[in-house]
Amino acid sequence: MIIAIDGTVASGKSTVAKKLAEKIGYFYINTGLMYRGVAAFARINNIPTNDSDKIANLVVKLKLDLKDVNGKQHIFVNDEDLTEFAIVPDIGSYVSNVADNPEVRKLLVSEQRRLGLEAGDAVLEGRDIGSDVFPDADIKFYVTADSRERAHRRLADDQKKNPDLTIDDVEKAILDRDKRDKERPIGALKKMSDSIEIDTTNLSIDEVVDLLIRLWSTEIKSAKCVSNLKAGF
Ligand code: DC
Repeated sequence: MIIAIDGTVASGKSTVAKKLAEKIGYFYINTGLMYRGVAAFARINNIPTNDSDKIANLVVKLKLDLKDVNGKQHIFVNDEDLTEFAIVPDIGSYVSNVADNPEVRKLLVSEQRRLGLEAGDAVLEGRDIGSDVFPDADIKFYVTADSRERAHRRLADDQKKNPDLTIDDVEKAILDRDKRDKERPIGALKKMSDSIEIDTTNLSIDEVVDLLIRLWSTEIKSAKCVSNLKAGF
């Protein structure tokens, strides 16, 4: 069974996707980390991420692997662990350039689909999972939260790097990221008509995970009913 989790930045989707996968024993695929890995490699090697031809030529030569390291998903690019470089806060604009590149998306989407099919039971998390990677996913969740609440969740972390940041600055940055994610020419973030929207504004991580597990088990039961009906039981 394939579970697609898309949603807005700082909505808690990565944390809940990972916890959900752990609890139900599904393979977890953090697709954002793959875009981040390409951006980190380009940055380290001084390849401009806004040069779409150079990035398109680069991505076909990269070997990308997602591996668990001490319970966390890491991204290996050409067998080197680049996670540390892929998650630094100032990688944002590099990753957005890479994620806007149609050739990168074509390649990563097909790789993500292959990984999901290989796993059989998988939770994939990103922006375009329910639309482009697995439009036929068994369950689709669209996770979001009020932008002010999302800014509060990010504030303490962001202030560690820049103590002068205000809540308004953080909220503005979040709204800018939403806009870029939603207006991307290909693979734009959108709520699909068959997605279940989960608003995490007033929920803890554990409450969201419990809710997703309830919805997943309801889906499993109804899928069993349908297959029993088809089999004539
Ligand atoms: O989820 P994240 O913040 O790690 O994602 C990093 C970047 O990659 C972000 O700019 C959105 C983009 N992304 C995407 O375009 N498609 C995905 N499936 C996952 C992430």
